[in-house]
Amino acid sequence: MAVSKGGVSPPRYIRKSGVFEDKRTSRKQEVNKESRDALTDRLWTLYRKGERMSYIEVQYPAEKPAFYQLLKEQIALYTGGEADRTAVLANASAVIAQAFPDANWVGFYLTAGEELVVGPFQGKPACVRIGWGKGVCGRAAAEKKPQVVPDVHAFPGHIPCDGASRSELVIPFLAPGGEVAGVLDLDSPLPGRFTEEDLAGLLPIARLLEEACL
Ligand code: SME
Repeated sequence: MAVSKGGVSPPRYIRKSGVFEDKRTSRKQEVNKESRDALTDRLWTLYRKGERMSYIEVQYPAEKPAFYQLLKEQIALYTGGEADRTAVLANASAVIAQAFPDANWVGFYLTAGEELVVGPFQGKPACVRIGWGKGVCGRAAAEKKPQVVPDVHAFPGHIPCDGASRSELVIPFLAPGGEVAGVLDLDSPLPGRFTEEDLAGLLPIARLLEEACL
């Protein structure tokens, strides 16, 4: 959310009028002046008052940089002002899942000693503990390095929590001391769903969440 001196500006993608098509779902939705202004007003009100509200549907731009900018603004909106880690990560996973209709699992694994333990997520029940260095998540944590996996079947040691998953993206979170506090994990049943561009878009979101609650 862009915050300017003396006021708050809602994201420009929300302010546009017209017929918007979500390129990934082919769903079309008309945004007219009325619905646009209602949304704008609610966002303005929220930000002026610093209050929470119910979820507002948005039209995601097809271009990835714009998509991720809006997603980051949404996450800031639904997690802002809250420091409780479970609350922040629960709402963050819910917002991300809404934005990725083609993801079957979105969530967090958190560091617990020499393991990762499942945290807030959206999707089917998942394996609870992942050893350091094991699977895609463990590898990201052990190497402190994001993993973009276009084909999980080609990743040695991949842990299949949801058999439908074909591709995966994992980003480690660092605590203020530099140690790995956990990872963000996205899975999709589509092969090659996540690219370096998705990683570039999600990294600032990971940094935002680090600052918010780790
Ligand atoms: N596939 C992951 C395990 C977590 S689930 O995908 C939710 C991995 O290999 O680490």
